[in-house]
Parts: sequence; C-alpha cells; structure tokens
Amino acid sequence: MIAQRTERMCEEIQRKFYAMGYGNTPLVSIGLENGSQILAKLEWFNPSGSIKSRAAFFMIYEKLLKDDKNKERTFVEGTSGNTGIAIAEVCRTLGIKSQIIIPPGTMKETIEKLRETGTDLIITQEENNVTSTEKAINMAVEKSINESERYVNLHQHGNEMNWKSHYYTTGPEILKRYDGNMDFLIIAMGTGGSIIGLSRFFKERKNTVNVMIQADSNSYIQGIRNFRKAKDKKLIIDNLDVIDEMYSVSDRDAAGGVRELIQVYGIYAGFSSGANYIVAKRFAKNYPGSKILTVFPDSAEKYISLYSKLNIWSLDKAGTTDFRDLNLLSNNVKVL
Ligand SMILES: Cc1ncc(COP(=O)(O)O)c(C=O)c1O
Repeated sequence: MIAQRTERMCEEIQRKFYAMGYGNTPLVSIGLENGSQILAKLEWFNPSGSIKSRAAFFMIYEKLLKDDKNKERTFVEGTSGNTGIAIAEVCRTLGIKSQIIIPPGTMKETIEKLRETGTDLIITQEENNVTSTEKAINMAVEKSINESERYVNLHQHGNEMNWKSHYYTTGPEILKRYDGNMDFLIIAMGTGGSIIGLSRFFKERKNTVNVMIQADSNSYIQGIRNFRKAKDKKLIIDNLDVIDEMYSVSDRDAAGGVRELIQVYGIYAGFSSGANYIVAKRFAKNYPGSKILTVFPDSAEKYISLYSKLNIWSLDKAGTTDFRDLNLLSNNVKVL
C-alpha cells in the first residue's frame, strides 16, 4: 500500500519534472576501435547545469506534496557544489524560498552561479576540527530542527528521492534512446544517488554489472567521495545490494580523462566526468566489444581555474591516458 502510494507520487513528480523542462539530456556514444562503446548522458544540459537538477527536483517536490505548509517555508541546504545550485534553481522556478550555506573554500565559479539564482547565500567561517562543508551541512540541519516552522532540509545523503529521481528519469530516458543492453554501468559516488538509482533501474530489466567508483582520499574532484572517508553515506549503505564492484580513481587519471574528452572528442566535461570516462575506458579496453554506460555530471564551465591550477593540459604521460594509444576514434562520437 505504502509502496503503491510512493510509486504514484514519484510518477506525479516525474510528470511535473518533464513538464517544467528538466531532463531529456543528450546521450552520446563514443566508439573505440576494439568494438567497445561508451555511452554517456551529458548532464549539464539540465537547467541547473548539472545532474543534480534531478535529485533536487524530486526531493523538493516530494516535500511540497507531503505538506502544503512547505510552500511557505525556506529550503535550507549546506553544500559546496552542484546540489546547492540545483536546489536554488528549482526553488526559484517553483517560486519558493531557498537558503544555501557554503564553506569559505567554495569555488568562485560556484559562488557566482549561486548568486545568479538569487538564493539567500550564507558563507560559513573556518573552524578547527570540523571540515567546513560538514559545518555548513550541520548548520542547515540544525536550522531545520530548531526552527522547523521556518526551514526545511532535504538531507540528500539519506533521502530516497535522490536515487529515485534517477530511477524515474535518467533510466527511462536512456531506454528511450538505446535498447539498454549494456555490460557495465560505471558511475562515481557522491551521495550515491545516480549509481544507485540507475543500478536499481537496470538490474530489474537487464543483467548489467554495476560498478561504483570512489575518489582517492584527499581528492580534488568536486562532487565525488572516498567510501571509507565519507561521513554520511546512509543512502549508499542502505542500497549496497545493487552494487557489484567498487573501483578507485586518482585525480591524475581523472584529469587525463578530462583532457582526452575535451581535446580528442570536443566534449567539454567537468572533473568527475573525466573520472567516470577514464574508468569506463579501462573496462572498455579490457572487455573488447563491451557496452558501458556512464554519466557526465557537469561541464568544464566551473573548473577552468582548477584545471589550470592542476595544470591538466600539460600532464606528462605517466599515470594518464595516452593520446597515441589510438583506440580512440575522434570521429566516432554519435548523439543517440
Ligand atoms: C560534479 C558531480 N559529479 C558527481 C556527483 C555525484 O553524484 P551522486 O551524488 O548522484 O552520487 C556530484 C554530486 O553532487 C557532482 O556534483
């Protein structure tokens, strides 16, 4: 009964999501010489510029459907990245208030994007022992507890609507363009929402091997985390049954992936897209003729200064991909 009610609610949110112009991002296919194919959704075509439009829309709309008073409340979130931009953008579109709390080290491009949304932006102060993103998250949670009549918090790391947004949108969109026969689904974990939602969707329909990528500890890759170091990972732990393998990626290899996507294929990818691509490519090489699905969560737009700081355009060969290993076919990118 509860399951049926949740399903009906998710279908209602799904209809609203498409009616308001979210999703339906392009699916591209990159062909390799050994017959393998990497399929990737270009998620920066969402209105907030990232994959996080999906989770933000589902999490916010669920709150509106569950309690009418939430329309008058402020949606408050502590975050240093795309989730903040997405929440602020969805709230603006739906005509509700948002407050985004960010740590002082947040990239200037992200801060600019947040300002453009017109959200009430709060930048925290640095403090000992508590990482600043954690402090921002805690502040948002405390506000929603102490002033529950004024504030709503979405808690993306434990909110099932996060992975359901991919189950109800990203998965069906892929099936519309492609028969869905793929060997591997490979996506890096932040909250885990995208890998879990798509893993669940495809496990029910096709026999994919689901690979969750984690970042090395102390990684610079925005949005993705190291499994052991990640503090709040309720969503992932609750859904580990759909993950078959775990794979680690270094910043250096992810940077090599970004460089290859931009310079060889002209795909203007963000840092975590480079991580997803480089691991997908490794599987593609090891399993000739395989079909691999991944997502490119955001574009290079916010990372240009970070890319220069890390000097990714002139990385030496070791540890990165090598352009001359020409199993790359630069003319073999297709939009499906
Ligand atoms: C750029 C980027 N890549 C990857 C992810 C990870 O996505 P998920 O939270 O669905 O695991 C995020 C999440 O915020 C992100 O912003």
